[in-house]
Amino acid sequence: REEVVTIPVVVHVVYNTDEQNIGQEQIDSQLKILNEDFRRANPDAGQVPEVWRDLAADALLEFALATTGPDGEPTSGVVRKETSVAEFSPDGDAVKFNDRGGSNAWPADRYLNVWVCPLKDALGYAQFPGGPPETDGVVILYTAFGTTGTATAPYNGGRTATHEIGHWFNLRHIWGDDGTGCAGSDFVEDTPNQGGANRGTPDFPKTSCDNAPNGDMFMNYMDYVEDAAMFMFTKGQAERMDAALAGPRSSFLP
Ligand code: ARG
Ligand code: ZN
Ligand code: CA
Repeated sequence: REEVVTIPVVVHVVYNTDEQNIGQEQIDSQLKILNEDFRRANPDAGQVPEVWRDLAADALLEFALATTGPDGEPTSGVVRKETSVAEFSPDGDAVKFNDRGGSNAWPADRYLNVWVCPLKDALGYAQFPGGPPETDGVVILYTAFGTTGTATAPYNGGRTATHEIGHWFNLRHIWGDDGTGCAGSDFVEDTPNQGGANRGTPDFPKTSCDNAPNGDMFMNYMDYVEDAAMFMFTKGQAERMDAALAGPRSSFLP
């Protein structure tokens, strides 16, 4: 694919306190990060270790707040909903349903639904392609969304949404989701085999699973490091996202 594909986004701000009713500037700051990260236009791309610089990919994906709503009406692409739910749990998906204190998904074949809310025990979570349309999209904790307002260090780099939208495009965790073992795979050829998740801000190189000398690609968006320590997708990951776009998410193609 050579053309950029733009994904229309609806942001559901589901708030229990005034603070959680995040401002437009914070929403815009998140969209800006997405449009950098998925185009390899992020200012920290230069920190990718030399050995992997050629692998860093422009995924040719951009994101824009929807301007037309589900019934063709003009929209800001932001839905604001006050809730009596103090904190949503990732299991249960209540945030995605009006009748459970959340906000109903917009048609998942035309919009990427992003819910921003008070979320229990997680920075975010995502639904992979192929799941039920009513719950399709990503959920992000309001303190891990965007780069301003309520965004809080070390998750104020907008990378939680980058990571979760990676999942929405079918990317797996880079360590293969097998705990710390070496048998799991992310089904991407050009990411090194890696034991478990990395956290914090590791020093390069950090090895596991016989992957010396370069070690883990912990600076990948699909690891668990802090926002400031992640700054790349690989070409293989971009291909996998492309396959999702050609397959289960093809309704987003022009
Ligand atoms: N699903 C992960 C969690 O809830 C998100 C990790 C995002 N990492 C980040 N640096 N923002 O913990
Ligand atoms: Zn994840
Ligand atoms: Ca592994």
